[in-house]
Amino acid sequence: MIEVRKLVKDFGPIRAVDGICFKVGKGEILGFLGPNGAGKSTTMKILTCFLPPTSGTAIVGEVDVRKDSLAVRRKVGYLPEGTPLYSDMDVLGFLRFVAEVRGFRGEEAAAAVDRVMASCRLERVRHQSIDTLSKGFRQRVGFAQAILHDPPVLILDEPTDGLDPNQKHEVRDLIKSMGKEKCIILSTHILEEVEAVCTRAIIIDRGRIVADETPEGLRRRSRQHGALQLLVEADGAAMENELAELDGVEKVTCEALDDSKLCRVRIYSSADSIPLQPVLDRLAGKKCPVREVTLLKGSLDEVFRSITRKEGAAA
Ligand SMILES: Nc1ncnc2c1ncn2[C@@H]1O[C@H](COP(=O)(O)OP(=O)(O)OP(=O)(O)O)[C@@H](O)[C@H]1O
Ligand SMILES: [Mg+2]
Repeated sequence: MIEVRKLVKDFGPIRAVDGICFKVGKGEILGFLGPNGAGKSTTMKILTCFLPPTSGTAIVGEVDVRKDSLAVRRKVGYLPEGTPLYSDMDVLGFLRFVAEVRGFRGEEAAAAVDRVMASCRLERVRHQSIDTLSKGFRQRVGFAQAILHDPPVLILDEPTDGLDPNQKHEVRDLIKSMGKEKCIILSTHILEEVEAVCTRAIIIDRGRIVADETPEGLRRRSRQHGALQLLVEADGAAMENELAELDGVEKVTCEALDDSKLCRVRIYSSADSIPLQPVLDRLAGKKCPVREVTLLKGSLDEVFRSITRKEGAAA
């Protein structure tokens, strides 16, 4: 549905997008991640024909963005960053206007507006002027206009920005429910959102792709992925060497927890996982009761920081 080919965008001396390539198919929900200024919004603006590329191109729904901007726009629903709207219109008037611009007339237009009013829960504010809406409701109106024509491709630039936790949840459910039938790219700074919604994640840094994999695959890159964490009643330092001797153990860290005799032990391994029983046997031998055992999943935050920081250091 989307194919990006060696896309470059320069703003004067600034190279915002630096030769990126990727493909997205139907049924995929791709999360765009990256530090501020990485080039996420610029890429999205090119995919939606709001900006022309400097070189390279993108094919959206079989149409080249350089060749037929109108045909691309028909296939795409776009929620731009910051949700620009016509603030002097009321919600109903605005959505009717969008329906008309999208080519709907009469009952068909009314049905399309009713459908998005319901799915984005906008009935309560239908007659309210857009400039008096709260941030979250503005965001919902932006989302509603993006899906009004039921497009096969959705490009959503920070769709849950400014929403309360309930609304975030609802918008994520809505995106997920549409994901099977469409091709969706969304950008976000919320890493848990990527896990909750996306089938795949691309991390962009300084206009380049630095990672392209499933959220689970990204997590696996985390130092903590597969590490064992135990809460143990013991004096940490003595245990470190004891546990480090076990087969497959690469590194052990012990950290005394405040106001208790507990110690948090983390056992890292170069293998995928560490057999638990020898660890428990060794601690039992030392008469150190184990209160809790957790297999760590790893943190996307850590992966994000290590990947993007590394790139920064190289520059
Ligand atoms: N119209 C413009 N003129 C000049 N520079 C621009 C313009 N638009 C974007 N840039 C620059 O291009 C780079 C990429 O910006 P972009 O908005 O794509 O980043 P982003 O990844 O969306 O960041 P954020 O997470 O902050 O939204 C930045 O250095 C930005 O200052
Ligand atoms: Mg942006």
